[in-house]
Amino acid sequence: MAGGKFITLEGGEGTGKSTQAALLAEGLREAGKDVTVTREPGGAPGAEQIRSLLVEGAVERWDPMTEALLHVAARRQHLEETIQPALDAGRWVVCDRFADSTMAYQGYGLGLGRDAMAGLHELAIGGMTPDLTVVLDLPVETGLGRATAKSGGEDRYERMDAEFHRRLRDGFLDIARREPERCAVIDALGAIDAVQAAIRAVVGERLGVDWP
Ligand code: TMP
Repeated sequence: MAGGKFITLEGGEGTGKSTQAALLAEGLREAGKDVTVTREPGGAPGAEQIRSLLVEGAVERWDPMTEALLHVAARRQHLEETIQPALDAGRWVVCDRFADSTMAYQGYGLGLGRDAMAGLHELAIGGMTPDLTVVLDLPVETGLGRATAKSGGEDRYERMDAEFHRRLRDGFLDIARREPERCAVIDALGAIDAVQAAIRAVVGERLGVDWP
């Protein structure tokens, strides 16, 4: 059986990852792949429960390292219950956020640093690395404006200050600069269709998908 690939979508608030993940999955299915679409924090029953603890409530409710540990705990469960079984079955996995989000939000944004986040990931998920990571990039004000328009209660991170969001945007760009073979940065300012076309071009080129 041809092995499935693990694709992650990353970026700050309001960059349109969920919409783009759904469209990418639709395209991959049309190209004949079996696809699992999933998200973090969440993607497995226990991890979805941890998600509520992280995305709702007061901005200051967690000590930063506790917060990072909760994200990584949810990730481990998601990997064990959802991602790895899907990949083992030959499915393609499209995941809305993964380890780079902890690096960007908690490592760069909350200031815990790269080494601490890399250490947590080594412990929890070992060398599990996406085959391709698409970083959707937007100016912070544009992204927060889009996100606030549709937050629906899960807005704990959106309520964090603009400096935090600037640090994590720079963090994603730094991650992509450090790992150019795994990561591709895509400008998310354009229309939904244009951004999706750019994503499909990268997926086609790097993972050898022939779009119908
Ligand atoms: P979502 O809005 O993309 O569904 O993600 C929920 C929030 O969780 C989002 O504001 C980013 C944040 N987050 C982290 O801070 N660290 C992480 O490791 C992950 C996966 C998400």
